Amino acid sequence: MGREFIELFDKWAEDYDQTVAGQDEQYREVFEQYEQILETVASRSFGTVVEFGVGTGNLTEKLIAKGLQVYGVEPSSGMREQIAKRELAFTLLDGDFIQFPAIDAGIDSIVSTYAFHHLNDTEKETAIGIYSKLLGSGGKIIFADTAYLNAEEKEQIHASARELGYNDLLIDLQTEYYTTIDALRSMLERNGFQASFSRLNRYVWLIDATKTS
Ligand SMILES: C[S@@+](CC[C@H](N)C(=O)[O-])C[C@H]1O[C@@H](n2cnc3c(N)ncnc32)[C@H](O)[C@@H]1O
Repeated sequence: MGREFIELFDKWAEDYDQTVAGQDEQYREVFEQYEQILETVASRSFGTVVEFGVGTGNLTEKLIAKGLQVYGVEPSSGMREQIAKRELAFTLLDGDFIQFPAIDAGIDSIVSTYAFHHLNDTEKETAIGIYSKLLGSGGKIIFADTAYLNAEEKEQIHASARELGYNDLLIDLQTEYYTTIDALRSMLERNGFQASFSRLNRYVWLIDATKTS
């Protein structure tokens, strides 16, 4: 579910790593500190990890380098082709945040970068409910993703993209399902997680949630 953006990623797959390296001016701020953001998520991950929306594998590589066992879930065939070229030591699965093959292992960490906003808020809560059942007490969700502090900040960020003439970015911000920190906190708490949030660049927040019950 939440698969309405997959075609876009099939087309973007070959050039995606150029965008994260800052070659697209409109997205430069979104991907500012990209490597450090991925490193932060990897550094908080432990044990057996499920990564959603692996893309070209930039976070996956860091998780594997830490010696973690990784199951990577990716719905875009274009992205799966790109990551397969890297010959990383992990299990690649065709699936999405909500519908994915059963994983025959205890799961400690559920991670993702730059991807959870492809689900609308109802779907996000459905996904978090599934992860709550998969994780034991102390298990973690560690996501880095674009979100707004509140509705006021959403307006400010849209206005500044409009003023700069960043139309691709503006359309993206208006059509994908970027939510607020309060909405994410409520969803996580309703599903038995205690969450902390910290800003990693103007757009991206670290969401670190521990299963407490
Ligand atoms: C912006 S890319 C991020 C890739 C990588 N995680 C990174 O940090 O560079 C978003 C990824 O999420 C995937 N994606 C889109 N919709 C998804 C969904 N519903 N469930 C899981 N992944 C999804 C895309 O195919 C793409 O690989």
